[in-house]
Amino acid sequence: MTQTIPHSMRVISTNEKMSQACREAVKPIGLVPTMGALHAGHLSLVDRARADNLTVAVSIFVNPAQFGDNDDLEKYPRDLEGDLELLRRHGVDLVYTPTVDEVYPEGFDTWVDVGPLAGKLEGLHRPGHFRGVATVVSKLFNVTRPDRAYFGQKDGQQTLVVLKLAKDLEMGVEVVVMPTIREPDGLALSSRNVQLSPEQRQAAPVLYRALCRAYRLWMDGERRGDALREAAREELQAEPRVDAIDYVSVAGMETLDELEQIEGRAMVSAAVHMGAVRLIDNIVLE
Ligand code: PAJ
Repeated sequence: MTQTIPHSMRVISTNEKMSQACREAVKPIGLVPTMGALHAGHLSLVDRARADNLTVAVSIFVNPAQFGDNDDLEKYPRDLEGDLELLRRHGVDLVYTPTVDEVYPEGFDTWVDVGPLAGKLEGLHRPGHFRGVATVVSKLFNVTRPDRAYFGQKDGQQTLVVLKLAKDLEMGVEVVVMPTIREPDGLALSSRNVQLSPEQRQAAPVLYRALCRAYRLWMDGERRGDALREAAREELQAEPRVDAIDYVSVAGMETLDELEQIEGRAMVSAAVHMGAVRLIDNIVLE
């Protein structure tokens, strides 16, 4: 729902001012951490936060610590003015836009490591990624002290890492996971989609299609992990615009270990490269 009454939104870029604004804000506070270049996926989290809380805070910070050497930190899309306009229209109260120096000042030395869960899948292909995510999310939680924080299923492993972090460190934050918002052709919305060429964009739904193929097998009663992984991989390999497959996984939701036999909740996920763009997606089998 878009709020139509005039409403003032504060944009804050220092830890101190943000902490103060959150201390003085009407509780409960809902926080939506983002890296900006906002789309309908982000806004679905904002709308849910708006519905659940009396104060909504959104952070916009492209976190260098979660990008690897070969990653796309420089190329990551940025559109602060556009983002602020969207957030205003969605009734956000506080926007936190710190600089890199504000989050990682000289001498910053404390890192949050989530353990084996963070080493699987995305962690294998993007070493240090979740250490960067867990550290910045911890810092955002400490600055804003939200009652609830909202994350998208789109980044399935990230939601598990954040849930674990919040539990292990007693963050006192309720982590809310929201469904993946997709284009009509199935492609999960992502800030990186704008970097796809028209041909790549046209081919990109193959990722969701591959996951759906595994999902349908599972619905039909197939419980062998290999059968699902092979079916999804076959679909991906049939698309010449997929340049490389990082992984196709059918893993248990607790540890993200690959499953031989599927029992209980499992996540089928994959990561592929199309040119310079890396796409991830997942479906939960439940
Ligand atoms: P970012 O990629 O900007 O995503 C911010 C939030 O939006 C994440 O929780 C993500 O899962 C969610 N999201 C992205 N695309 C979505 C979609 N299509 N449907 C539903 N939700 C979607 O994820 C990050 O930023 C960063 O790692 C962050 C958590 C902010 C830490 O730096």
